[in-house]
Amino acid sequence: MCGIVGYIGPRQAQDVLLDGLSKLEYRGYDSAGIAVYDHGDIQVAKAVGRLVGLADELTQHPLQGSQGIGHTRWATHGRPSEDNAHPHSGCASDFVVVHNGIIENYMQLREDLEARGHHFSSETDTEVVAHLLEEYWTGELVSTVTNVLKEIRGAYALAIMAKQDPGKLVAVRKHSPLVIGLGNGENFCASDIPALLQYTRTVYILAEGEMAVITKDAVECLDLEGNPIQKQPFEVTWDAVAAEKGGYEHYMLKEIHEQPKAVRDTLSGRISEDGRHVLLPELHMTPDELRNIDRIHIVACGTSYHAGLVGKVAIERLARVPVDVEIASEYRYRDPIVSDRTLIMVISQSGETADTLAALRNAMARGNQVLAITNVLGSSVAREADDVIVTWAGPEISVASTKAYTTQLIALYLFAGYLAQARSTANDDVVAELVRELSSLPDKLENVLEAAPLIQSIAESFSTWDDAFFLGRGLDYSVALEGALKYKEISYIHAEAYPAGELKHGTLALIVDGVPVVALLTQDELFDKMVSNVKEVKARDAYVLGITWVGNEEITKSVDRVLYVPRTIAFLAPLMLVIPLQLLAYYASVARGNDVDKPRNLAKSVTVE
Ligand code: AGP
Repeated sequence: MCGIVGYIGPRQAQDVLLDGLSKLEYRGYDSAGIAVYDHGDIQVAKAVGRLVGLADELTQHPLQGSQGIGHTRWATHGRPSEDNAHPHSGCASDFVVVHNGIIENYMQLREDLEARGHHFSSETDTEVVAHLLEEYWTGELVSTVTNVLKEIRGAYALAIMAKQDPGKLVAVRKHSPLVIGLGNGENFCASDIPALLQYTRTVYILAEGEMAVITKDAVECLDLEGNPIQKQPFEVTWDAVAAEKGGYEHYMLKEIHEQPKAVRDTLSGRISEDGRHVLLPELHMTPDELRNIDRIHIVACGTSYHAGLVGKVAIERLARVPVDVEIASEYRYRDPIVSDRTLIMVISQSGETADTLAALRNAMARGNQVLAITNVLGSSVAREADDVIVTWAGPEISVASTKAYTTQLIALYLFAGYLAQARSTANDDVVAELVRELSSLPDKLENVLEAAPLIQSIAESFSTWDDAFFLGRGLDYSVALEGALKYKEISYIHAEAYPAGELKHGTLALIVDGVPVVALLTQDELFDKMVSNVKEVKARDAYVLGITWVGNEEITKSVDRVLYVPRTIAFLAPLMLVIPLQLLAYYASVARGNDVDKPRNLAKSVTVE
């Protein structure tokens, strides 16, 4: 996964490209580069490491010119190095290419091109595109590109520039995201909207198999054969500052604090005026179709998968439909037992996760109905699913997902209530209680956030340990999984989540004097069992932080520290618990001096397998 950006207009391209890339660094950050056209020549600058390295290089040796393309890389084919950094050229520097995705048949293409005398200077799959452009050059860029596209297989978003056809960028999308920004006397392309927001809010979201020919005065959209297509521009409503840090030290902290608003926005328009029913006017599924569902498969990765685990409990409890939750990278390669009454739900913040998208496509090909929950309206998942519930969390920049998770939970609870209404599986008062509690959440979440200083002090002491354990039962265990993922992802501390009753079957052997244990205790019917498990780890001298409902004085006898969260129905506890866990991970990461927003080896959106 990588970020690409392109610019053509009156400004210095270098500045626009660097600025755009800085908004895309979440997509990859092991090397970066730009190419700028000026007076019959194309100059390229590259640097290994973070974008700041490239910016320094360009301060010392600026590239003049008002047309260019840029790239921030997350290595897939070939280690991070200057040679492997994009943009790539062929044998001469007549063409430059930036690419996000994978060219699956690049080995074969490379062998053929080498046999025809092409010399390669990188280990990347991308470089074959530049050499193919040389091979197929028609004297004009668009027809050359359409010829080259016939040769390559795989997933790609490409931005291409040719020395012999100046004043033009060609941008192509196939299975990797790409948006075109429409300016006044200037135009842009980028992997994601935040890269454009400083310059324009009017965009075309390229669909699969679309291409844009971008000049400073016009953008023409074509299919991959080169036939013109009509597209409607899309007005982006996010405020540009929403994509900035807004005074917080890190995007993650900002995004954690945005959760009350994100929850409020995601609930907005989805609750009836009398406050007793769920409304999901965006769904096309008819009441008959909803009643006809006999099984649901929820498919997702990482944090979105963890949201699915909570969704299972909500849907089964309210709508009485059996739900299986599956990891997308596993699900896509097995032969799931489905019927035409199985609903497939995919959950993806980005809407571009390769495995989730593949599972969606497999389901569509089998003829199953697909409902997506996503945060990105123009994403592949949103465009390809039959039905979409958008989570209105706004752009999530930090690699560690926070507000996307809470809003995914909101979407899942809403859908569970909606399904229950259609199937008459829950008493009206039960749905009304759910709706009332959901509406009260934003204020309660504000209250949880007030515990940040206390959590910071606990995180600082935990951060000196190389292990941590997160225990829970029932829904608390689902949240424990998310807490442990967040903790290891950004603090780099080994963290394990365990169903507390399972400890004595092995993991208890790891509990030693002082080791941090986070015990989640919100499921009332399991409370006593959970306290017994806490005692088991206390007997081995673990240091236990208990997180439970406000007013539970009893727990102070069993744990070392307590963190109280406001009461809601036990069923919604994950929303209350996850914020302390996100803050714990955040402050442990800060205490360890890590790069919170860009943890090592990870990228925000995993658009390759
Ligand atoms: C969690 O903090 C991660 N960033 C990761 O697990 C993420 O949730 C996963 O890659 C799925 O992404 P998606 O929701 O965009 O599909």
